[in-house]
Amino acid sequence: MDSTASVPQGVIPVQLLKGQKALVTGANSGIGKATAIGLGRAGADVVVNYVAGRDAAEEVVEEITSFGVRAAAYEADVSQEDQVTAMTDRMVQEFGTIDILVANAGLQRDARFTEMTLEQWQKVLDVNLTGQFLCAREAAKEFRRRGVVPEVSSSAGKIICMSSVHQLIPWSGHVNYASSKGGVQMMMATLAQELAPYKIRVNAVAPGAIRTPINRSAWETPEAREDLLRLIPYKRIGDPQDISHAVVALASDLMDYVVGTTLYVDGGMTLFPGFATGG
Ligand code: BGC
Repeated sequence: MDSTASVPQGVIPVQLLKGQKALVTGANSGIGKATAIGLGRAGADVVVNYVAGRDAAEEVVEEITSFGVRAAAYEADVSQEDQVTAMTDRMVQEFGTIDILVANAGLQRDARFTEMTLEQWQKVLDVNLTGQFLCAREAAKEFRRRGVVPEVSSSAGKIICMSSVHQLIPWSGHVNYASSKGGVQMMMATLAQELAPYKIRVNAVAPGAIRTPINRSAWETPEAREDLLRLIPYKRIGDPQDISHAVVALASDLMDYVVGTTLYVDGGMTLFPGFATGG
């Protein structure tokens, strides 16, 4: 039993983020793409960052502009400091400022521990953790420079870190990925504490199993799907829109008093489902 048809479609209030400028990293596919589109639907202008796949990024831009807001695709590798600063400088120049950063870009390079190469370890840490650090730092500088503009938002800026249930759940065969997301959790909380006095809100969204290219093998065959659903009390695999809705809500002033929180969007995956019938 798994149906994405039950994801509410198009429920985002259109004007929720009107006039805000959002940067979404890794926005040409999966969760990043759905999130960029959701932010645009909510009235934000959106920069769609990508590292490879310009055509896919341009398609996302096209869909977002159909909502009557601005969008543009910027190429940058989030793990490279000079590319990140060039991207945020360009956004400030072309869009005026940044109000919302969704630090989403991430990848997996899976291997059993004793076979994992230093390169596999380093690549995942570089993109998933250092990439978020660099983007958050540049966004925070811009938030502090600009300060609060009350007509736009109650806060000076919002940073939303894309984490994972694996910031909490250990994951055999994925020590690089789980370590990167554990790092994201502590980075997010520390930044939230440090930046809150400047009216900057830092939070995280921790997706569970969402149907995207990153985890195709976990849902592609009926057997894999059945195994996966055993880990999800709500008995459906997530849809990228589930995450998009959470990000839009967290970025909005509806959540103005939410600071330093991780919102798990996981159908209950973090509820120790193995204990539902045992223990
Ligand atoms: C991973 C997916 C995985 C999910 C649940 C995500 O963070 O990227 O590959 O299916 O966690 O285990």
